[in-house]
Amino acid sequence: MTENTWKFDEWIRTQFVEHNNELECLYWQQSDKANVEGIGEEIKKSLVEQGNYYISKLLQEGNTDEGFDADFDLLGNVGLFMAACRRHEITEPSRERVSPLHEASALSMQIGASIGVTPRFATAHLTTHNRAVNGRYKRFTDLDAEKLFVDYNTRGILAFKRAADALLKIKPIGVSHPMAEDLFKVAYQALADVYQSNEILFSELDSDAFFYQVRPYYKPYRVGQHIYRGANAGDFAGINVIDLLLGLCLANESSYSQLLVDKFLYMMPEDQRILRDCMRMTSLMDEFISVMDRSRHQVWYKKHLALFLSVCEMHGKTAQQHHNQLVEKYIAVPANSMNQEHMDKLTASGPPLNVLLGALEKLKDRRNAVKRDDIVTRFDDIQKLKHSLS
Ligand code: HEM
Repeated sequence: MTENTWKFDEWIRTQFVEHNNELECLYWQQSDKANVEGIGEEIKKSLVEQGNYYISKLLQEGNTDEGFDADFDLLGNVGLFMAACRRHEITEPSRERVSPLHEASALSMQIGASIGVTPRFATAHLTTHNRAVNGRYKRFTDLDAEKLFVDYNTRGILAFKRAADALLKIKPIGVSHPMAEDLFKVAYQALADVYQSNEILFSELDSDAFFYQVRPYYKPYRVGQHIYRGANAGDFAGINVIDLLLGLCLANESSYSQLLVDKFLYMMPEDQRILRDCMRMTSLMDEFISVMDRSRHQVWYKKHLALFLSVCEMHGKTAQQHHNQLVEKYIAVPANSMNQEHMDKLTASGPPLNVLLGALEKLKDRRNAVKRDDIVTRFDDIQKLKHSLS
């Protein structure tokens, strides 16, 4: 780490957090908690001046290439700064045509393009690739709600990744291999872990604190000319690896592949590679279907198919939980009581809330193989496979 990189990192871990804490405290005291205009102007000024100071030093330093990890980490720090400026409406993409944070934009674009990721902070910066120093990892604020949210996002992501890894290991050995049984069990357990972890998040996270003090840091912001959507906990390959390998979602169905195409650069390069490979694979569901007629009376078939179906079911359950509990309690319900003037700035990805909810509902229904006329789901195939067990 160069001295300038180190100083900036130190600032992000200390004073930056204090500025955000103070501003959050001021916003929270208002009757309209979503308002940030005209509040804490001196603090906002210090935040921008200090951030720009460190970033201009780094930009002057020129090519700071110290390997992927250091570059990715620095991009995350610049991104946290830019996201905080967006949260406090120091920048506002609909107000501007180019980000007023010229130096931060220049550095983000240089790093993002050179390492093959989007030039903004992504989920991995706050979760799976967020280095803790003395037990404390980087966050925007010291608020309990933010820590809880990031802890449980990280836990959920790691568990989804365990499930994806186990399913990927079945591909080269095939669904009839004796070890497929073990791997299906690992995948099932990992998804059950996601479910359990989300249950705790749901019961412990305060919805107002999340909605007004955490979520706003995940809004879209401009880097240079372009607006980049906010980060969300889905920006890793594992969730889609599970969808595709189970066969519940199809890479050649346009509304699903659109989602994949749009998220590639928000993932770590290693995740991008995994997902690309996975998009070319046949699913485990199709493997079972292709041997159904000749193997349905085999012991392995009955055992492994039952396990496969239980993994599908558990994957569907986590999607229902995400939609019916997390999204409902923390986004949809509070949005209803929000002042209309703030509504257009609500979601991380940018589309209006009803459009976003519709898209998430389709994902939930695909993952649950629900019968629907408007999108392709595996309802019929799952029924066929279930009948083959009787
Ligand atoms: C307070 C808790 C949470 C809320 C309110 C929430 C809400 C959302 C919303 C609204 C989206 C759509 C993206 C957008 O905003 O533009 C999304 C996407 C996603 N979230 Fe969450 N989320 C929460 C926690 C989690 C956790 C703990 C996980 C587990 C890893 C998770 C996994 C995902 C995934 C995988 C996606 C991408 C869409 C998909 O493939 O289903 N979320 N979330």
